[in-house]
Amino acid sequence: MLEKVRKLAEKVNKYTPKSEEDLNRFRVEYLGRRGVLNGLFSSFKRVPNEQKKELGSSINNLKNLVQKKIESYKDFFEEEEIGGDVDLSKPVSLNNLGSRHPISLVRSEILDIFNRIGFTISEGPEIEDDWHNFSALNLPEEHPARDMQDTFFIQTNPDILLRTHTSSVQVRHMENTSPPIRTLSPGRVYRNEAVSARAHCIFHQVEGLYIDEKVSFADLKQALLYFAKEMFGEKTKIRLRPSYFPFTEPSAEVDIYLGTNSDSDYRITKGTGWLEILGCGMVDPNVLENCGIDPKKYSGYAFGMGIERIAMLKYGVKDLRLFFENDIRFLKQFSSL
Ligand code: PHE
Repeated sequence: MLEKVRKLAEKVNKYTPKSEEDLNRFRVEYLGRRGVLNGLFSSFKRVPNEQKKELGSSINNLKNLVQKKIESYKDFFEEEEIGGDVDLSKPVSLNNLGSRHPISLVRSEILDIFNRIGFTISEGPEIEDDWHNFSALNLPEEHPARDMQDTFFIQTNPDILLRTHTSSVQVRHMENTSPPIRTLSPGRVYRNEAVSARAHCIFHQVEGLYIDEKVSFADLKQALLYFAKEMFGEKTKIRLRPSYFPFTEPSAEVDIYLGTNSDSDYRITKGTGWLEILGCGMVDPNVLENCGIDPKKYSGYAFGMGIERIAMLKYGVKDLRLFFENDIRFLKQFSSL
């Protein structure tokens, strides 16, 4: 029987299919239910035990040989089909469509909303110098408020750092443009924070800046109310809480009202129903002066928000790290948006 298997292997080795049908016939002949291999396996049961080891492995080898032969020619015929007899009426198989990243979706939605009230976009470098990220923004060296934004420095040069907010872009914009200014700066920012469900060392911001004559806090409040309604729905309520930022005076944090009806709303709002979504305020006159704008003539407001936080709220995402892991099962859920 061993000899029979050897001969069969030789035959398989020599075999060259002439067409796809021929290959199919070969497959059925060897691998079919009543095929050669099943035949061999059933007579295998009847051979004496001491022959089983050698015979078993030679039958298995034969089976592998047959399968490899089929595999290699299957591709060959498939390729040939493309070159030769092409059926142009055959429906194409659809490519898997990719999806936009949720951060990119929310980023464009925020930009769209503010575009509609006249804001344009300005961008700047992610590697910044001390002046644009801190000093010009009324955060001189040794100012304790620098601790609010744990900073990554580039090597040992304390003057060069990864920007901690996109306010740095607004400084650049003010330096190069004269009012009226109405600009948004979206981008990636870096802070030396432990990574958790609520914080990451890299995240994305959109900051806004409006400077003109007689800009007031009421203008700021109105713009933010408009934003909240466009983003989260007509019924959205906001509240402003006094806060502190070195570059704005007065400063506030804006909360939106989620309520406490669901467990998760109760949890994320710590039982108050309110959740903070952004920081804002009237641009400090020192900042205007640092950037070459006359604070006696002009005033302005600024605001800044984290895109991840808005996206978490909008899509009910519970863990911020999901935005950075590129897990296709997570990303696919946004494919229809
Ligand atoms: N730059 C601030 C931050 O990143 C946000 C902010 C922008 C606050 C503008 C007030 C005004 O925390």
